[in-house]
Amino acid sequence: AVIKPLHRTRFHFQPRRHWINDPNGPMYFNGIYHLFYQYNPKGAIWGNIVWAHSVSRDLVNWKALKHAIYPSKPFDINGCWSGSATVLPGNKPVILYTGIDPQNRQVQNYAIPANLSDPYLTDWIKPDDNPIVDPDSGVNASAFRDPTTAWLSDSGHWKTIIGSKRRKRGVAYLYRSRDFVKWTKAKHPLHSAPNTGMWECPDFFPVPLSGNQGLDVSVTGNLVKHVLKVSLDVTRYEYYTVGKYYHERDRYVPDNTSVDGWNGLRYDYGNFYASKTFYDPAKKRRVLWGWANESDSAVDDVSKGWAGIQAIPRTVWLDPNRKQLLQWPVEELNRLRGKQVKLSHQKLYKEQHVEVKGITAAQADVEVTFSFSSLDKAEPFDPSWVDAQAVCGKLGSKVQGGVGPFGLLTLASENLEEFTPVFFRIFKAHHNHVVLLCSDASSSSLKKEGLYKPSFAGFVDIDLSSKKLPLRTLIDHSVVESFGGGGKICITSRVYPTKAVFGDAHLYVFNNGTEAITVDYLSAWSMTSATVN
Ligand code: FRU
Repeated sequence: AVIKPLHRTRFHFQPRRHWINDPNGPMYFNGIYHLFYQYNPKGAIWGNIVWAHSVSRDLVNWKALKHAIYPSKPFDINGCWSGSATVLPGNKPVILYTGIDPQNRQVQNYAIPANLSDPYLTDWIKPDDNPIVDPDSGVNASAFRDPTTAWLSDSGHWKTIIGSKRRKRGVAYLYRSRDFVKWTKAKHPLHSAPNTGMWECPDFFPVPLSGNQGLDVSVTGNLVKHVLKVSLDVTRYEYYTVGKYYHERDRYVPDNTSVDGWNGLRYDYGNFYASKTFYDPAKKRRVLWGWANESDSAVDDVSKGWAGIQAIPRTVWLDPNRKQLLQWPVEELNRLRGKQVKLSHQKLYKEQHVEVKGITAAQADVEVTFSFSSLDKAEPFDPSWVDAQAVCGKLGSKVQGGVGPFGLLTLASENLEEFTPVFFRIFKAHHNHVVLLCSDASSSSLKKEGLYKPSFAGFVDIDLSSKKLPLRTLIDHSVVESFGGGGKICITSRVYPTKAVFGDAHLYVFNNGTEAITVDYLSAWSMTSATVN
């Protein structure tokens, strides 16, 4: 008999085997999407890093090509680390990436397609004038990496930023070039922030003030804001700010509505790291890729033979409140939707759960809108609760509340020995209400050893005047990826059920608050498997 791998995903991006981490150099070129990624060709733990390469016409189905960039020269002999693609005028892609040299210094290199008329850009050349940026005497050569997509200024200069740190200060060094080969460090970094540590995988891009279109990275002016995202290697999560880019002096200043530190806004309050966006000119959108690592042990990964996936690519744009971004799975994902079931006007009284039957609950897409008639019963919010994850850990789905907890029980076994609840809880603060979204892995698996089962959560700034809260959750065997409030808050969890697998997985809507909740409507789809690599 063929043993079906329990936790492999069926519509998320992953290679057939071995370790993956960061998405690298995503781009659109002549009708084809490219995704490169950090990959260990020799095993399911990090090491021997190359740029693996896949191509797609729809961001959902992928074909694996040979490795695009791998250690072969002194300037990258100890590893080909993360970087980005830029499409130069004349439709000429270039990759900037970090190489690890024989002294284990982090240097920046470039690579170009060997044959621009090959639609897949299979082969890449690393010219001999590499490295193009060496760590200078002021920078820490073991903390100097992950160049961004470069943008072009009116003066004809290309600019890129490189992640680094100075003591405990996170830094985005700015480099300029006229020809993409000779790069000069700017006197001042584009931006830096105290007590954030090493900034890995910075990303910097414009968003229009209104509408959900994306913009080419080089757009500046009064009709845009800029976003700077960094990945913090100490805490292993990311934060971003929304702000203004003063392009004449090459300084970025976050708006005073954005917290510029480790407790700032996140794309995702779960397992999501080293993310990167690209501009898709075909659909005029900005698309975000992020890595979702495993939450099982390295021993488990070696026995599974694989580790790491990419989260579903998401369209990102500025919230009309101009204080944060909104995110939504790329529309192409909907093509995988198969059988559909619906619920509407379903009341949920306290301690009630109702099964959503008739779909493959281990591989599904669920969209639901909950409503309530009053916030009077909302529990008081304790102002000392700054850490959403701690609140979710304390007030889980089984702890009765006022308005909430209500939401979905995903990847649930029939008798609820295992389940991953995704739920809202609404609190009453002094002058407003506070909404918490949780994706709680603590009850996700009966396996006791070697699993990380965090109670991921985030607070979401959302208008409750409609008395409605929407939620979309993508369920893919070991992935529960949720979009709350129409994309205001996202949480990705990796979970490893032992019973709630394949046909034994169930899906429920639930309420455990004293205020009755209505499922205004719910649509759930069985998802067909994508062709991935
Ligand atoms: C982030 C990161 C990058 C680095 C790469 C190495 O996960 O540490 O900073 O370039 O992974 O694989």
